[in-house]
Amino acid sequence: MPDDVPDDVPDDPLVLGIETSCDETGVALARGFELLHDTVASSVDEHARFGGIVPEVASRAHLEAMRPTIEATLGAAGAALGEIDAIAVTAGPGLVGSLAVGLATAKALAFALDKPLYGVNHVVAHALADQLVHGPFDGPTLALVVSGGHSSLLVIDGAEVTELGQTLDDAAGEAFDKIGRLLGLPYPAGPHIDRLARDGDPRAIAFPRALTRRQDLEKHPYDFSFSGLKTAAARWIEAAADAGREMPLNDFAASFSEAVADVLTSKTIAAARALGLGTVVIGGGFSANSQLRDKAADRFAAAGLDLRVPPISYCTDNGAMIAAAGVHAIRRRLAPSALDIGADSSMAPQQFVA
Ligand code: KG4
Ligand code: ZN
Repeated sequence: MPDDVPDDVPDDPLVLGIETSCDETGVALARGFELLHDTVASSVDEHARFGGIVPEVASRAHLEAMRPTIEATLGAAGAALGEIDAIAVTAGPGLVGSLAVGLATAKALAFALDKPLYGVNHVVAHALADQLVHGPFDGPTLALVVSGGHSSLLVIDGAEVTELGQTLDDAAGEAFDKIGRLLGLPYPAGPHIDRLARDGDPRAIAFPRALTRRQDLEKHPYDFSFSGLKTAAARWIEAAADAGREMPLNDFAASFSEAVADVLTSKTIAAARALGLGTVVIGGGFSANSQLRDKAADRFAAAGLDLRVPPISYCTDNGAMIAAAGVHAIRRRLAPSALDIGADSSMAPQQFVA
């Protein structure tokens, strides 16, 4: 691993962020925590008919989109490649073929421009993105990162990241997408269930809250599990069909969303209390969910916690979150990544920079 950050990298560096962990090709340019421009090309429409991401299709789409996306970002920000101080790229977790496209691009740019490369962790970057909106974190921060691929509770203290817990099976967004599929909703179904839930009664159906009983809490105080909920919801749909009942879509969506938001917020509050942390940041594509946002706002305020949650455009996969992670690393004077780092499909959040 190379030595510390080169001396000529400023505290407010111009950082190019490249994200290709899933189906979005994201490229952004930030100066310090000020976002200059963010361009996202998505291949989601190409996957929709399969009901999920097809890795090979995603990799090819990244290859095609990469160059135009970089050019669009530089053009819109009025910046030249030569002005960039550092390049940040997602090193993991994610689809290995997709990650490889971003990494190869970032390494080539870092080598050609002779600038430091930061291979950063996608999950941690979801939480760090909020600094582009609400400024630098002020001390240790509890982070709830929820998306289609991950549900994690982290403590971010400068460059140190500790994972308190994560999902033992499905991520929250994944459970929404799978149940949405059973309901015949288009992929990704999360936003559609959210919309249906707004007009439903969250108390209509009592869905299970996994890992919240006393004996489970002793072993898994901050872990999540959504596969039991998913099975219970699938059985409910089946039973309604067998009985020839019409699905009460709004009440079903509201009760399902309530079960997820309830567990996510109650475990986050328990962690904040146990660790004496006063600030919680929420990130990841699932944090667009209105039931989670509303519940977090109410419950965290009642618990005396400060809530940091960026606008939805900062929560989905994009280059801005990766540029923010690069700035975060540079401000902590972390050593850049070696030019031979590989894609790490299961990169642990403790490893914030590869
Ligand atoms: O972070 P993200 O863009 O990609 C991953 O890294 O997974 O998250 C996408 C996930 C999908 O599962 C999608 O259904 C879910 O976030 N999602 C939502 C909402 N918006 C996106 N789930 C529930 N409610 C929403 N409003
Ligand atoms: Zn993500």
